[in-house]
Amino acid sequence: MAVAVQLLPLLLLVASALAGYTPRYTPDWDSLDARPLPAWFDEAKFGVFVHWGVYSVPAWGEWFWYYWKDRKDPDAEAFMRNNYPPGFSYADFGPQFQAKFYDPKKWAEIFEAAGARYVVLTSKHHEGYTNWPSPTSWNWNSMDVGPHRDLVGELGPHLREKNIHFGLYHSLLEWFHPFYLLDKQNNFTTQNFVAAKVLPELVDLVNRYKPDLIWSDGEWEAPDTYWNSTEFLAWLYNDSPVKDKIVVNDRWGIDTGCKHGGYLNCKDKYKPKTVPERKWEMCTTLDKMSWGYREVMNNSDILTYVEIISDLVDVVSLGGNYLLNIGPTKDGVIIPIFQERLLSVGRWLSINGEGIYASKPWRVQMEHTTSRLWFTTKQSAVYVFFADWPMSGVLQLTSPVPTNMTTVMMLGIPELLKWSEDSLDRSLLIYLPKLSPDLADMKIWTLKLKGVE
Ligand SMILES: *[C@@H]1O[C@H](CO)[C@@H](O)[C@H](O)[C@H]1NC(C)=O
Ligand SMILES: *[C@@H]1O[C@H](CO)[C@@H](O)[C@H](O)[C@H]1NC(C)=O
Ligand SMILES: *[C@@H]1O[C@H](CO)[C@@H](O)[C@H](O)[C@H]1NC(C)=O
Ligand SMILES: *[C@@H]1O[C@H](CO)[C@@H](O)[C@H](O)[C@H]1NC(C)=O
Repeated sequence: MAVAVQLLPLLLLVASALAGYTPRYTPDWDSLDARPLPAWFDEAKFGVFVHWGVYSVPAWGEWFWYYWKDRKDPDAEAFMRNNYPPGFSYADFGPQFQAKFYDPKKWAEIFEAAGARYVVLTSKHHEGYTNWPSPTSWNWNSMDVGPHRDLVGELGPHLREKNIHFGLYHSLLEWFHPFYLLDKQNNFTTQNFVAAKVLPELVDLVNRYKPDLIWSDGEWEAPDTYWNSTEFLAWLYNDSPVKDKIVVNDRWGIDTGCKHGGYLNCKDKYKPKTVPERKWEMCTTLDKMSWGYREVMNNSDILTYVEIISDLVDVVSLGGNYLLNIGPTKDGVIIPIFQERLLSVGRWLSINGEGIYASKPWRVQMEHTTSRLWFTTKQSAVYVFFADWPMSGVLQLTSPVPTNMTTVMMLGIPELLKWSEDSLDRSLLIYLPKLSPDLADMKIWTLKLKGVE
């Protein structure tokens, strides 16, 4: 007893030290990969990606400069010959990037109506032009050349007002930056570019705009040790003003994709076949041919509503987030076909979002029986998404096992639906209701099952 009393102050000291303890991350992947991902990201499920920069002027695709000057692509060269005077340089596009009609409040309204819980804007793509007044991007930033505005800084507050998380895309490499080319020539044994450009700009973005997400890209030519990625991330997680909420992806060096970082993108448009061990995100783009705005888009180049919604439920059933890209015009206009698609996602989510946001993968992800079916789960309910309305009006599910507590609803309809258990194979038979034209138009519907195993 006497011993215990003497020990008490010491125990209290240890306990209080533990309670106030926050782990320090060390600049290595073992430590950084072990950081728990801030919960907001998994709950968000749906985000909008925005590719916008000087490449929006030629409007040929965001890789235009590279295709024109590095690959000497015949189409890119012909495009310049046919549309611009001889001697016109890529830098000459800069002043034409006007953002005349850029209305970040309106953008935020569109993203909110789309049901997006996060937005990722390109702060700088591989061309090196920064959409914010970066002090280390002299005469190649949105304050000095083109819009004379801070495009990044203007969007953030409007997103936050609507509780949409603010993400920034950032390209590590710059195709034609002289320091980058020099380091490349030195087989990345020197870090002139990283010291002068990459690290100062990443730190500036974080301190200035306090983003919720950094979507890193352009990592593929050099190892993470060249980019000092682990050093940057250790600062970001330990000491930066966003250390508790920040989320990052996996593009931090030649070999990091699909392996290291906060969550996994793997490749563009990548979608796994089974639920991965780590959180992941599929990024894809409304214009199947490009991420940046393209003037010669065809109707058939644009993802259809059904393609988008089936991708979304497919991704979410596998535990992923779905990041859907648009490319605004050089004047900052989100063209009507993009608006229409985004708003159609929002309409769908306004009814079916209950089974999407903050859901988890269920024990089964999908069934391919008579109808394409996907599952998610949340708070003991199982959500079933189906894309083909059975002619018989009876939907058959083989995975959920009914109990005497089972109830079935369709999102958007208040009444319980009738169900029975097939006497032969014990599958669950659900008697679908008559739909109003609005609900019929959704084309992918959601059932909410309770009391199933
Ligand atoms: C870079 O690597 C290549 C191929 O391994 C080699 O030929 C070249 O000499 C190296 N350059 C430098 C500056 O180390
Ligand atoms: C990268 O990190 C290493 C190890 O901490 C350090 O020696 C080097 O100076 C850093 N490079 C830059 C450009 O900050
Ligand atoms: C539009 O799509 C059609 C059919 O796929 C194709 O024949 C046509 O060349 C495309 N037009 C452009 C401008 O890409
Ligand atoms: C449901 O089934 C369980 C056993 O499977 C039984 O204990 C329970 O009484 C049943 N409840 C109802 C309401 O029938």
